[in-house]
Amino acid sequence: MTTVTIAANGVTGRMGRNQHLRRSLLAIREQGGVALADGRWIVPELILIGRDADRVRRLAEETGVARWSTDRDAVLSDPAVDVYFDATATASRADGVRAAIGAGKAVYCEKPLAPTAGEAAELAKLAEAAGVKTGIVADKLFLPGLRKLRRALDSGFFGRVLSVRCDFGYWVFEGQVEPSQRPSWNYRAEDGGGIVLDMFPHWQYVLEDLFGPIMSVLCHAVTHLPERVDEAGAAYAGTADDAAYALFALEGGTVASFTSSWATRVRRDELVEFHVDGTLGSAVAGLRSCHLQPRAATPRPTWNPDVPNPIDFRATWVDAPAIEPDENGFKLQWEAFLRHVAADEPFPHTLAQGARGALLADLALRSSAERRWIDVPAADA
Ligand SMILES: NC(=O)c1ccc[n+]([C@@H]2O[C@H](COP(=O)([O-])OP(=O)(O)OC[C@H]3O[C@@H](n4cnc5c(N)ncnc54)[C@H](O)[C@@H]3O)[C@@H](O)[C@H]2O)c1
Repeated sequence: MTTVTIAANGVTGRMGRNQHLRRSLLAIREQGGVALADGRWIVPELILIGRDADRVRRLAEETGVARWSTDRDAVLSDPAVDVYFDATATASRADGVRAAIGAGKAVYCEKPLAPTAGEAAELAKLAEAAGVKTGIVADKLFLPGLRKLRRALDSGFFGRVLSVRCDFGYWVFEGQVEPSQRPSWNYRAEDGGGIVLDMFPHWQYVLEDLFGPIMSVLCHAVTHLPERVDEAGAAYAGTADDAAYALFALEGGTVASFTSSWATRVRRDELVEFHVDGTLGSAVAGLRSCHLQPRAATPRPTWNPDVPNPIDFRATWVDAPAIEPDENGFKLQWEAFLRHVAADEPFPHTLAQGARGALLADLALRSSAERRWIDVPAADA
């Protein structure tokens, strides 16, 4: 058995507690660890870090984790700590990641890596210079729906991919009547909020991992709902963008058009859907499902608004079957990262990728401010 000791910061928050602590790290411990090909098991040991002693202690008690602390730097100075994990709010990530790299720890963190592209690039460079292993969340790629989409791509199902249309979003309550279901800092630019900074790092790895390098971006970011009410019931100004309407031009000619909105009401099957059209087939992938329509089964619509539409379009798609058992996407990525740390297995989602995600967000916001297309430099430029 190999133990990997993880100092986990920000785990009293929404993502840290639910996705990372409960559904990933504790679930991995419950299953006995992560199995390696040579028969060894990697078992994560945890130290919980947070600012509020009461909350961290309560969380440690609830989850049966023996060690917790409010002193991040003291934990980082412990030579037994292998990995620093950060799921704190976006604005505080860079500070923790920089301290962990300085202490020579491997780093795994939530996206975005930092609120600005400059800071994110600096962290990626620091990690590379220090020679520490790094990872950043790319959870969407590990979801069942996108894994089925990747299988369709790998099997040549689409022919030439013409376009990718993404519809992401749902209504996030403003807080005046119903409480908001997301933290208020998400809606304040000064606290690292904004849908572009939140979602475009996801769009970077989804597009570039599945469809190819992004060459340029055109974005219109807006704040549809500037008045919100926070967790304490106090009114505040929504200073950050809560919707973004973007086009991406990819190498090879694929055009991606992405709507991201916290001010839209859902009438689709999932909270995010990717509609891919290719010369030989199309797909609509969500978080869990992926529907396919090959060229030879494409219906032949004709435009005639004078009669009811004769085709049941939804019925003309095939539901892609699950091949692997469904697993939590965050947990799968944690397992891959633990194998990377303990057994040197390759892991592509490094802080360099995180820096590129932050760069895309930065360029999209610049495009919006300057009302023009912006070129995205090549990854190795
Ligand atoms: N991968 C995904 O799908 C996904 C989804 C939502 C959020 N996120 C990311 O996860 C991170 C956390 O988001 P959340 O929704 O859980 O937020 P949250 O507000 O619920 O939790 C944030 C956590 O950080 C702590 N924190 C806040 N400010 C801090 C500071 N200055 N120093 C130290 N700790 C601080 C809080 O106490 C809390 O534990 C964000 O960066 C967000 O972008 C990722």
